[in-house]
Amino acid sequence: MVQLGRRLILGNWKMHLNGQQAVALSSAVAKQSPTSDSDVTVAVFPPFTALQAVAQSCRSSHLLVGGQDCHGQAQGAFTGSISAGMLADAGAEMVILGHSERRQLLGETSQTVCEKAEAALKQGLHVILCLGETHAQREAGEYLSVIESQLKQSLPTGVTRENLSIAYEPVWAIGTGKNASALDINDMHAHIKTLLIPLIKGEIPRILYGGSVKANNALEILSLPVVDGVLVGGASLDASAFLSIVDAAKSTSKQASHAAAGKVSL
Ligand code: PGA
Repeated sequence: MVQLGRRLILGNWKMHLNGQQAVALSSAVAKQSPTSDSDVTVAVFPPFTALQAVAQSCRSSHLLVGGQDCHGQAQGAFTGSISAGMLADAGAEMVILGHSERRQLLGETSQTVCEKAEAALKQGLHVILCLGETHAQREAGEYLSVIESQLKQSLPTGVTRENLSIAYEPVWAIGTGKNASALDINDMHAHIKTLLIPLIKGEIPRILYGGSVKANNALEILSLPVVDGVLVGGASLDASAFLSIVDAAKSTSKQASHAAAGKVSL
């Protein structure tokens, strides 16, 4: 399993970019990605068709590469699907599972997500498990229970901080330009952490935020002590916007380590 920094900055490229464009973008990001001793790990999630080319082009850098989904079975007659083993073979070290665009548009259930996560863990991939409530669920005051049932039903056994991270992505914040408030993020991350404590042996997995994270709000979001990183969609398609978000993570990490050491951050 790949070693990760304390904070993760992840770029979900969704169904964008051909092979050449994907390699160009990953190379631009790789040039400025943090080094191995950094507190911040950066990864990109290209479409399947570009994954191997991107992984090969980033091999000598510290940029990690992941898949956007995988199947729950190791192999079989599943036309159009990709197994976790195939992702690993193509050079992926991580996989996003349970993204709301799959839960909502493709009817993916938490049980299916759990099977996929089990398959991914068997292949040594680090799982980014996405959870998120809709606008209607938030308005109805059901958001805490929705996240609780998604988490409990999607989480496979044998999870540790090393093999899985959670991405809290409110559905109403994805691609809308409306990110959750600091108060909403604090409340939900604390809720998820409380739910995880009895379910995990050892240190609690990282909890990331996703949903309209941009260069101009990343610093505020990453300054929240409960946020261990961000999952970025739209803004990750632009190298300079994505690298500004990486810079925000580096600067907030520095502040956090100075504060922990009792130093004043300049
Ligand atoms: P967004 O997407 O940053 O474009 O809102 C986030 C995501 O879907 O992971």
